[in-house]
Amino acid sequence: MKTVLITGAGGYIGTELTEFLADRGYLIYALDTFWFKNKIKKNKNIKIIKEDIRYLSQKNFPNNIDTVIHLAAISNDPSAEINPKLSWEVNVLGLLNILNLSEKKKVKKFIFASSGSVYGVKKEKKVTEKLSLVPISEYNKTKMVGEKIVESFKKKMKTILLRPATVCGPSKNLRLDLTINMLTYHAIKNKKINVFGGSQYRPNLTLDDMINIYHFFLKKNLTGTYNVGFENEKVIDIARKISKKIKKISINRSKSNDKRSYRLDSTKLLLKGYKRVSNISDVISKLQKYYSSKNFKFSDNMIRIKYLKKFLNGSK
Ligand SMILES: NC(=O)c1ccc[n+]([C@@H]2O[C@H](COP(=O)([O-])OP(=O)(O)OC[C@H]3O[C@@H](n4cnc5c(N)ncnc54)[C@H](O)[C@@H]3O)[C@@H](O)[C@H]2O)c1
Repeated sequence: MKTVLITGAGGYIGTELTEFLADRGYLIYALDTFWFKNKIKKNKNIKIIKEDIRYLSQKNFPNNIDTVIHLAAISNDPSAEINPKLSWEVNVLGLLNILNLSEKKKVKKFIFASSGSVYGVKKEKKVTEKLSLVPISEYNKTKMVGEKIVESFKKKMKTILLRPATVCGPSKNLRLDLTINMLTYHAIKNKKINVFGGSQYRPNLTLDDMINIYHFFLKKNLTGTYNVGFENEKVIDIARKISKKIKKISINRSKSNDKRSYRLDSTKLLLKGYKRVSNISDVISKLQKYYSSKNFKFSDNMIRIKYLKKFLNGSK
């Protein structure tokens, strides 16, 4: 059985990834502070570790881990701006602590969740892994520096840097700040989508693909840096796609000072053999069902924001 330590296992991606891998026979150590509660389904293949990556010690780092998937982070621009110092501590120093412990415990493979946003604003139609990194926000900067730190361990273990696009799709620990999740929510709830700007290009990635890509890298003998995003769309076109599926909604467009715009090219990943499993259109339909089901509670999202703010404002 393959043994995997997932940090940030209680988050939007981590919750679903942990269950997916456990269902496929992996033994998962699911490590998180569980700021957003633990919603991971009980499973004999899942061991929960409630710890902060910044303070994790060798004693609490499990033995015999084959691969670490490092997701734990302050994971978006607005959150990182609330307390930049703390965001650097978690996203960079916390990462370094996990890498040092991984080396000591002889972990074989380390997969790091960076972000496609490390490229900053790019006019090129195909942003490949060869282009320069010009991150524009505090969050993006922590990810770029994080990548450099992970790379410095590449002689000690196999290192994989993934630069994912904005993820979308239902999760037990949903993030409503993500573009498609949010726009679809407003379409259903308010029959109206507000688009700020709209001509910015954003690459997208379904949660199902994100999870399958982590699984792909667990199985494959690969190292290096990979873009992970398939549908580069203008935000206004995403809103139009949603309005086609969810009928009778209006789109309001207003000015925005959000300059982030880039188109990820993931040819490198596809050439290694990854086969996509879903697309935006599937996700909008899934979200439509999910938001109308009793599994979705808007208040969960408010709790998520409350706990995150509490932490970022200084209390543990
Ligand atoms: N969701 C996306 O669209 C997206 C896109 C690109 C990259 N990523 C990256 O993927 C990773 C996972 O993203 P997500 O959307 O699941 O984010 P998330 O915010 O839902 O999950 C992050 C998890 O990390 C945990 N965490 C934070 N600080 C911690 C600490 N000090 N110690 C232990 N646990 C801690 C949180 O409790 C949370 O459960 C993040 O690194 C994010 O930057 C996400």
